[in-house]
Amino acid sequence: MVTTVGTETTLESLLEDLVQLDYDAADAYEAAINRLQEARFRDRLHEFRGDHLRHIDELGELLRKMGRTPPKEGDMKSYLAQGKVVMGGLMGDKAILQAMRTNEADTNTAYERAVAFHGLSTETHEILQRGLQDERRHCEWILEQLKTL
Ligand SMILES: [Fe+2]
Ligand SMILES: [Fe+2]
Repeated sequence: MVTTVGTETTLESLLEDLVQLDYDAADAYEAAINRLQEARFRDRLHEFRGDHLRHIDELGELLRKMGRTPPKEGDMKSYLAQGKVVMGGLMGDKAILQAMRTNEADTNTAYERAVAFHGLSTETHEILQRGLQDERRHCEWILEQLKTL
């Protein structure tokens, strides 16, 4: 299932949905880290989880400047939240990384749409662009590891 995050009509709802997506991604990473066998995978995924938590802070700060209260948790309707449940039933590092790669396809799509949102301020665009670079790096690293498994 492909995410709809990034197709919102207002910047506020776009940023709110991104915060929820990043919460879901961080939760999925936590579930993955708890199940992965290889320490090198766990270490890197821990770092990626930290990127998602930083995105939550940065996007939340933008929302507060706009007078909005940022979401404090993920959106249970999202694919990533389901992915977290699915993760619990997966066996083996390869299956877990494949599930995380699917999750990261959604974050990449969402951030690609977000940076293209019309009329972004320079500050907002820079934060979203940095976020997109993080998401691309996450996806590329996972794909590289999958080639070795
Ligand atoms: Fe993110
Ligand atoms: Fe990511």
